[in-house]
Amino acid sequence: MSVGTAAELTVEGLTIRFGGLTAVDNVSFEVRAGEVLSLIGPNGAGKTTAFNAITGYIEPAGGEIRYRGTRLTGLEPNAIAALGVVRTFQKTSVFASQTVHDNVAIGLHLRSRQRPLAILAGLPSVAREEAELAREAAEILRFVGLEARGQDLAASLPYGELRLLEVAIALAARPKLLLLDEPVSGMNPVETESFMKLLSRIRTEGITVLLVEHDMKMVMGVSDRIVCLNQGRVIAGGTPAEIRGDREVIRAYLGEKFVHRA
Ligand SMILES: Nc1ncnc2c1ncn2[C@@H]1O[C@H](COP(=O)(O)OP(=O)(O)O)[C@@H](O)[C@H]1O
Ligand SMILES: [Mg+2]
Repeated sequence: MSVGTAAELTVEGLTIRFGGLTAVDNVSFEVRAGEVLSLIGPNGAGKTTAFNAITGYIEPAGGEIRYRGTRLTGLEPNAIAALGVVRTFQKTSVFASQTVHDNVAIGLHLRSRQRPLAILAGLPSVAREEAELAREAAEILRFVGLEARGQDLAASLPYGELRLLEVAIALAARPKLLLLDEPVSGMNPVETESFMKLLSRIRTEGITVLLVEHDMKMVMGVSDRIVCLNQGRVIAGGTPAEIRGDREVIRAYLGEKFVHRA
C-alpha cells in the first residue's frame, strides 16, 4: 500500500479545555491515506485527549475534525466507528469471561447488518451468517497471531496477548483508520517486536494508523511521519529523521530518552 498525499483525517485548530486547563491548544495536523502517523510528546501533552476528541468521546471547545470530508465533531462514538474510525480500548472492550474467539465474534456481530427480526425468526440466512462470522473471527485471530488461543478464556491471556486481543476486537469493526494509544506499553521487547510486525501487516491491509506511543524504537521504526505535542501544542512535525534531530523535540521530550553518543 503506497502512501498518498490525500488527507484522510484533518484536525484543524483543535482546542480542548478541562476547567481552567487547556489540554489541547489549537492543534492542527492531518493523517494521509495509508500512512502511519505517530503523535508523541511527554506525559500530559494532550495525546490521549486528542484521540478522545477524534473518536467522539470528548466535545472540543473549538476546532474541527474531518474524516474524508465528513465532519466528525458532534458525532457520537458509534457513528464515528461506523465511518471506519476505530480505536482500541485498553481492557474495557474485552469480555473476560468469554473465549478469545467469542470476543472477536461479538465485535463482528456489533457491525453485522443482520436484522434483529431475521435473528428472532431463526432464518437460514442467520445460520449462514453465524458460520461466516466464525470464519471471519478465526481469520482475524490468525492475523494477530492468536489462532492457538481461540478457545481460551480472555481472562487467562497473559498481558501481551490481551493487548493483541484488543487489536483483534478493533479489527473486527473493520477500521479504515485505526487509532492505537500506547499499544506496546508494558510489553517486553519480544512482544514489542512482534507487535511491530503486526502493525506492518495492518498497514499492508490498507488501514491507515494514528499511533500514540512512547517506545521510540517502535515510533522511529514504523512511522511515516511524526507530530510532537508539548503542553497541548504542536511543537514539530516531520519524518522520523527530522523529528529525531529537532532541537525543540529533543529539549521537550527526546532528550530524556536518547543518550547521544558523538
Ligand atoms: N477528564 C479530564 N479531566 C481533567 N483533566 C484532564 C482529563 N483528561 C486529561 N486531563 C488533563 O489534560 C492533560 C492532557 O492529558 P492527556 O491527554 O491524557 O495527555 P497524554 O495522553 O499526552 O499523556 C493533562 O494535564 C491531564 O491531566
Ligand atoms: Mg495518554
